[in-house]
This record gives sequence, structure tokens and C-alpha cells, in this order.
Amino acid sequence: MVRDVNAQAELTVPAGLPDWAFNIPDKAQPWGVKVEGVVQAPGSSKKYEATKIAGNANPPDWYPDEHPAAPKAVTGGEGIRFACGSCHLMSGQSHSEAMDIAGQPAAYLIRQMAYYKSGARKDDARMGPIAKVTSDEDAKQAAEYFASLKPRAFVKVIETATPPKTFIATAGRHRQLHPDGGTEPIGHRIIQIPEDPFRTEIRDPHSGFIAYVPPGSLAKGEALVKAGSCAACHGESLKGKGEVPRLAGLQPLQVARQLFDIRHGSSAGEGVAPMKPIVAKMTEDDIIAISSYLGSLPPA
Ligand code: HEC
Ligand code: HEC
Repeated sequence: MVRDVNAQAELTVPAGLPDWAFNIPDKAQPWGVKVEGVVQAPGSSKKYEATKIAGNANPPDWYPDEHPAAPKAVTGGEGIRFACGSCHLMSGQSHSEAMDIAGQPAAYLIRQMAYYKSGARKDDARMGPIAKVTSDEDAKQAAEYFASLKPRAFVKVIETATPPKTFIATAGRHRQLHPDGGTEPIGHRIIQIPEDPFRTEIRDPHSGFIAYVPPGSLAKGEALVKAGSCAACHGESLKGKGEVPRLAGLQPLQVARQLFDIRHGSSAGEGVAPMKPIVAKMTEDDIIAISSYLGSLPPA
């Protein structure tokens, strides 16, 4: 089980769901971001040996003054092989293949961990196996830590019919600019890439993402979100309410993936029941538009 997580052996898209939402590495790998030697993030006083922070056990903590003391489930430490900070970053705002959890209600995060553990919510490659090896106490401490953080704007949403040509890299499962250059039609997709591949690779929480979305998505998304009364449950300005998560400023790719998963039934924890009838009515283009609009809103 743990070996599979290391090898990322089980990266499959649930039947019939659009593969662009799942960051499955392409077969052809034209290049990789080279991260070697001692590395540093701009504005950080810290330095790390690239190989030490490359795995999932020892995430770098570039800006320790920006967050409270973090539990070992997040930072790594004895017995922790999958430190939350490595994929979710110390800020909680996360790489695109994961999910921004900064400032989300602790109870909501704890519940998601329980769903991954029971299999009610499926991510066989990552969170399923991780939740199974994380103790309830570690999950609780990690959830309380991430809940205490204040999210900042972490994604720029740009409407375009012709985004740059990209591919999904094996390293970190990040979408990257294709070395051939040029553009390609966006089609019915969200194309999300790191603002700066090197800084994303070294897990710098100050370096976010760019989401290219089809023209018209923002206005259409806004209309759907207003008509859908999302704020009734997700709070004023969609910043979260009680145990219901924030939607504002989440990365469009992540929101789209989660909406597809809810609609498909691969995210089916009990708590998600109120969402079921809502997503049942959404088309693929609705999901793209809604996710784009939500990503364009200020998170805090
Ligand atoms: C190796 C990378 C990795 C590590 C380490 C990791 N996660 Fe995740 N996490 C992911 C991915 C990928 C997803 C998206 C899964 C999906 O699509 O359902 C995710 C999603 C989540 C979600 C769902 C959030 C939401 O709003 O839907 C929670 C909660 C979560 N992770 C908590 C944690 C906690 C707590 C830890 C540490 C104990 C942790 N994760 C460690 C990769 C990781
Ligand atoms: C009746 C209440 C209700 C309404 C209305 C509602 N939601 Fe939700 N939504 C929830 C609850 C509750 C959850 C958390 C589910 C859980 O705990 O697993 C949720 C979760 C989500 C998530 C997953 C977030 C994450 O971090 O993984 C997304 C995305 C979402 N809702 C989008 C929407 C959108 C878009 C609308 C409007 C079209 C909407 N919701 C309307 C109750 C609602």
C-alpha cells in the first residue's frame, strides 16, 4: 500500500471523467524542471539540499514566521512518511493535483480524512493510502493547524481560447509549458500551470498557479453560482460557513475535480449529500465555468 504511494502506481481517472482534471502524467516527457544542489526560495532566509526536500517526508518550511508551530504530521518527523506539508505546502494552499485546505474548517478536514480512510471518498493514489496510515490524533492536529491559516490569492484565472501548449510532467504531476512553445485550442478544459515551475517544485508557498479557462467562463460561472444559491451554505462571499468549506479563491482545477468526483460518486461521504442534487444538474461546461469563477474570487 505504502509502496504504491511512493511509486504513484495507481493513477487512473474514474470511469468517464475528463482526464484533464486529474493530472495524469503524459507518456512522452519532453523535459523536467531540474532541482539540484542547495536551493532557496526568494525572500526566505532558509536553504535546503534539493534531495532532502524532494520526497514526501521532509517538506521545506520556507517562511516559518508566517504560520503557527506545525504538528509533526505536517512537517514530517519520526514515523511520518507522508507529511501533509509536502503536497499541501506549509501554507495549506497546495499543489494543483492536491486541494487547497488553508483556513478550511477543522471539522470539515477531519471528516474528509475519515472519508478517504473508509473509501467513501476515493483517491487510490494519494489520500486513500495516506489517510489509512495517519492516526486520528495526527489527522486532528493537522486539521487544526491548516484550519488556523489564512489563505491568500494563489491562482490567476485567465480566459483564453488559445492557452500555451503544455504537458503533464511525471515530477510532482504538474502541468508544464511544452518546450516546443506555441499554443493549442483550450477546448472544454481548464489548463492550470505553475506560475514558476522551479518555485513550485521546491514547494514555495508564495508561488502560485495560472489557470487558463475558456472565454466566457467567468460571467457564466458567476450567473450559475448566483442562481445556485451556493452562498446560502458556503457563506457570504463564499468564504465558508460553520463546517461548510470556503469556495472563494480555490484553484479551478481542484474545484472541477471535486465537483466531477461528487457527481460521479467517487466522493460520496455522508456530508456531501447536500451537494448531490446540485451537481447532478451541472454539465461539464457548467463545472468549468463555476470552478473558473470561484477561482477568481478573493479567498479572504
Ligand atoms: C503525497 C501528496 C499528499 C500528501 C503528503 C498529503 N496529501 Fe492531502 N491531498 C493530496 C491530493 C492529491 C488530494 C486530492 C485528492 C482528491 O482529488 O480527492 C488531497 C486532498 C486532501 C483533502 C481534501 C480537501 C478538500 O477540501 O476536499 C484533505 C482534507 C487532505 N488532503 C488532508 C491531508 C492531510 C491532513 C495530510 C497529512 C496527514 C495530507 N493531506 C497529506 C495529496 C497529499
Ligand atoms: C444545501 C447546502 C449547499 C449548497 C446550496 C451548496 N453546497 Fe457545496 N457543499 C455543501 C457541503 C455541506 C459541503 C461539504 C461536504 C462534506 O462535508 O463532505 C460542500 C462541498 C462543496 C465543494 C467541495 C469543496 C472542497 O473543498 O472539496 C464544492 C466545490 C462545492 N460544495 C461547490 C458548491 C457550489 C458551486 C454550489 C452552488 C452551485 C454549492 N456548493 C452549493 C453544501 C452546499
